[in-house]
Amino acid sequence: MKVVEVPVIAREEIAEGIFCLSFASEEIGKNIKPGQFVNIRIGEGLQPLLRRPFSISRSDGPVLEIIFNVVGAGTRILAGKKKDDILDILGPLGIPFGVDGEYETALIVAGGLGVAPFPFLTELLRAHSWRIETFLGARNAGQIAERFLENVHVATDDGSRGFHGTVVDLLDHYLREHPPERPKIFACGPTPMLRALTEYAIRTNIECELSLEGEMACGIGICQGCPVERVRGPKRYALVCTEGPTFNCRDVQLN
Ligand SMILES: Cc1cc2nc3c(=O)[nH]c(=O)nc-3n(C[C@H](O)[C@H](O)[C@H](O)COP(=O)(O)OP(=O)(O)OC[C@H]3O[C@@H](n4cnc5c(N)ncnc54)[C@H](O)[C@@H]3O)c2cc1C
Ligand code: FES
Repeated sequence: MKVVEVPVIAREEIAEGIFCLSFASEEIGKNIKPGQFVNIRIGEGLQPLLRRPFSISRSDGPVLEIIFNVVGAGTRILAGKKKDDILDILGPLGIPFGVDGEYETALIVAGGLGVAPFPFLTELLRAHSWRIETFLGARNAGQIAERFLENVHVATDDGSRGFHGTVVDLLDHYLREHPPERPKIFACGPTPMLRALTEYAIRTNIECELSLEGEMACGIGICQGCPVERVRGPKRYALVCTEGPTFNCRDVQLN
């Protein structure tokens, strides 16, 4: 884990209100794996005080990308960054997605900006010759960020593109017609979506790993500010920043 101060290489709007920022760090780039995140100090003074966590969306040697939308003060400042502005970044943090085991088909399921970690994961799965099917849910067609993903199936809340309904219903429809060989689900998105997906994965007996994106402060296990309830294991709570953000869906209780 390192703290680096590096310039922004580029900032781009890749879908409606969704921004991509790239920067380069040899130290972080050579160690980071899909599912891990960085914690970025955004304000120059006290506001916002805390670092903000972002998944690494793509990695090409030292060049790393994050994608985000504006939800509050931190992401508003981040969206205004320009080429050569300096970012203060702590990373890599957290536990990566698990890609070992007797699996053949990756079912990637993302809601909204939950798509962020999946271009990076897709690259790794491709290198390991997995078959990949990607299911993206969003409010409307303009908010689909499908760059660098494979075999994309879309669900929108307003029916403006693809399946009209939730991404979990889309996954269910698809798998009824195309039963997968040795599947594993990788998912990230809003808590209600992850809860519905967990029920689905347990009912259909499919392995499923979730990346949780709850609020976080230190990002390194000190403040105890990111607990998630465990349903099995030695302790009642796990810390999302150091024991996650990736968890087997059968291990955690999403409230
Ligand atoms: C491990 C991890 C990886 C993440 N990766 C990404 C990513 O790749 N792209 C991305 O866009 N976001 C990601 N997030 C979420 C991102 O960190 C928050 O959106 C960001 O911290 C908001 O900062 P802000 O200052 O703009 O908003 P704030 O002013 O802090 O909050 C604005 C509003 O959003 C709510 N909020 C803040 N953070 C979250 C959250 N995590 N979940 C739900 N509601 C929240 C607050 O309660 C408040 O209502 C990730 C979070 C975690 C924990
Ligand atoms: S964010 Fe501080 S312990 Fe997890």
